[in-house]
Amino acid sequence: MLAPVLTIDGPSGAGKGTVSRLVAKKLGWHYLDSGSIYRSVAIAIQKASINLGDISEIVKVTQAMVLEFECADALIVKLNGINITDQLGLESTGNIASQVAAIPEVRAILLQKQKDFRQLPGLVADGRDMGTVVFSDAENKVFLTASAEKRAERRYKQLIEKEIDANLATIKSEIEARDCRDMERENAPLAMASDALYIDSSDMTINSVVEEVLNLIR
Ligand code: C5P
Repeated sequence: MLAPVLTIDGPSGAGKGTVSRLVAKKLGWHYLDSGSIYRSVAIAIQKASINLGDISEIVKVTQAMVLEFECADALIVKLNGINITDQLGLESTGNIASQVAAIPEVRAILLQKQKDFRQLPGLVADGRDMGTVVFSDAENKVFLTASAEKRAERRYKQLIEKEIDANLATIKSEIEARDCRDMERENAPLAMASDALYIDSSDMTINSVVEEVLNLIR
């Protein structure tokens, strides 16, 4: 029996990660942070000093990559046996991830790795193409977005809380550049599935978004 899936797609900083984790916890379902898989490719190519223009080497590294996800208190990700959790959240990692994510061969290699997360009792999958490509047959789909200003402000606050130096204007322009790349690529672009529930979280609390998503499942 195929496990049920709830997909949550949307642009960077809309709150997908936080909402998905909370919903998965409430439902007792598994959680797939598909962005972390693309981010792992970004780290792998940086470690191997591969140029972003060298598609065939990027494809080789993606094929050879062994990823392990461990759920302790927080998610731990290991790439070829090495803990890369701390590097995953960096802005630079996200920017490189969105460039490798535009390579069709990379997406094709990562497709099965993502589908393997579909396990009983259910899966909450967060990303850009969860409802349109990877789990297009999902029973429940959400497209979660927020204005670019709000998304930049949230990211800025997160970085400042972690005592990482940040500039709001730079973050906003990087977020917009990344969204643009994600929406305009030919292969599996960021788009709302026709059967998805649209939620704009600009003026909503995390809890009210979680409630709205849980209502959809109920
Ligand atoms: O969600 P996150 O910011 O971690 O994703 C990093 C990048 O990975 C995105 O900007 C996007 O280019 C890519 N990605 C993707 N498809 C997904 C998830 C992430 O192309 N399903």
